[in-house]
Amino acid sequence: MTELAQAHGLTLREDYFDDPAAWNGLVELLQDTFSIDVSLQDRFGGPDSSSMPSGYFDSEGCCVANFTAFSMPMMINGRAVKAAGYQSGAVRPEWRERGLYRDLMQRAFERTAAEGYELDLLLTDKPALYERYGFRTVPQHVFVAKLPKLEKSDRSARQLSLESPDDLSLIKSLLQNRQPVSNRFAVIRQMEMFLLNACFNSAIRLTTLGDETVVAWTFDGATLWLLDVAGTVIPSLATIVSALDIEPDRIEVCFSPDRLNCETSLEPYEGYTMLMARGKAADEIAGPLMLSPMAEF
Ligand SMILES: CC(C)(COP(=O)(O)OP(=O)(O)OC[C@H]1O[C@@H](n2cnc3c(N)ncnc32)[C@H](O)[C@@H]1OP(=O)(O)O)[C@@H](O)C(=O)NCCC(=O)NCCS
Repeated sequence: MTELAQAHGLTLREDYFDDPAAWNGLVELLQDTFSIDVSLQDRFGGPDSSSMPSGYFDSEGCCVANFTAFSMPMMINGRAVKAAGYQSGAVRPEWRERGLYRDLMQRAFERTAAEGYELDLLLTDKPALYERYGFRTVPQHVFVAKLPKLEKSDRSARQLSLESPDDLSLIKSLLQNRQPVSNRFAVIRQMEMFLLNACFNSAIRLTTLGDETVVAWTFDGATLWLLDVAGTVIPSLATIVSALDIEPDRIEVCFSPDRLNCETSLEPYEGYTMLMARGKAADEIAGPLMLSPMAEF
């Protein structure tokens, strides 16, 4: 038993996701803290199997604090980087300011360091909390694309639904076999967050082009936001927009667009959270870049 656990009558549990009651404890903590329902993932096969959660539970099995590391391999400037992401960081209000979060962060960071992760990434609205652990903010930009010349599309584009088992299995297989959407800065493999983010925002449309690529996008009648392209091939922007059969006035690409064969200009991205990085591969991150909103965690 850890000293903190002993002092507060709590139990430290690590890697507890295969215990349904404990997983439900985390679901409730995140619901109460962030008003999000991560149990939606249960429909898709549950949370990321690489997750390394650490949590404190009270005597009734209520999860009072948690911090989770997970594996998030990244492509950065052409190199595959062994990266860890950190998510689900929360402490119930009545348990705050007792060092529980500090303890859980330190455990997670020690663990990923011991396992040879060369990059740590997180998204936060409280950067000061992580600066003392060596994290630095990575500026992000959206890429405003020059409108491409639309072609007559010979690709069959089809809207997908996460409610359809066939569509879900196509999306999962494209995510598993995807090429990184960018060589500069993109996840190599991340399925669970893509599916959860698609669930969280009903405006997100998932469209497959020829069953070899799924495009995640939103459109308000004027602006197209291209959120991600997952598949074994990455078509050009002109091919994508032509296949979507829309005529946007403005296109914002929300990831590094180096594989889209298009011209772009930059605008700073003012998100609610900031991307932070540390570790020996952090110096390899060179802007301009954006982490796809479908990979947000
Ligand atoms: C942020 C939160 C996790 C902190 O939990 P906690 O158990 O009170 O934190 P601790 O007592 O372990 O304090 C850890 C350190 O963080 C600092 N800290 C706590 N809240 C902070 C904040 N909002 N901003 C900056 N630093 C903060 C503490 O001063 C302490 O610093 P020290 O190690 O130098 O003494 C908790 O307030 C919470 O759940 N907030 C709502 C959800 C949230 O914002 N989660 C983080 C998402 S990235």
